[in-house]
Amino acid sequence: MYSEKVMDHFRNPRNVGEIKDPDGVGTVGNPVCGDLMTIHIKVKDNTISEIKFKTFGCGAALATSSMITELAKGKSLEDALKITRKDVADNLGGLPPIKMHCSNLAADALHEAVKDYQKKQEENRNG
Ligand code: FES
Repeated sequence: MYSEKVMDHFRNPRNVGEIKDPDGVGTVGNPVCGDLMTIHIKVKDNTISEIKFKTFGCGAALATSSMITELAKGKSLEDALKITRKDVADNLGGLPPIKMHCSNLAADALHEAVKDYQKKQEENRNG
């Protein structure tokens, strides 16, 4: 049912954990199943220099979070905002249709983390 890639990221997830003193944090819950994901980012020169995730969820949610941290690392904030759940699923070699909603969590948490960072920047600028 799952691709080799999904199984690989599930067994051996990349970038798990938290960043001390993160520049942006995104937390989203999945209303369908109640699972929860948090993404922490560090930003340097408008680029995601560091990224970590914590997921309380199913295997697909774990694999998609792991994959999205790999996709987002080193990307500009604009490009990170363009990463979609389809990109995540495609890079994992596909997800079973019933599990596509799980990849929402990863894309949404990343976007929230970037927006959180941008909001803080805005607040700093406005004093
Ligand atoms: Fe909850 Fe997959 S079943 S995120």
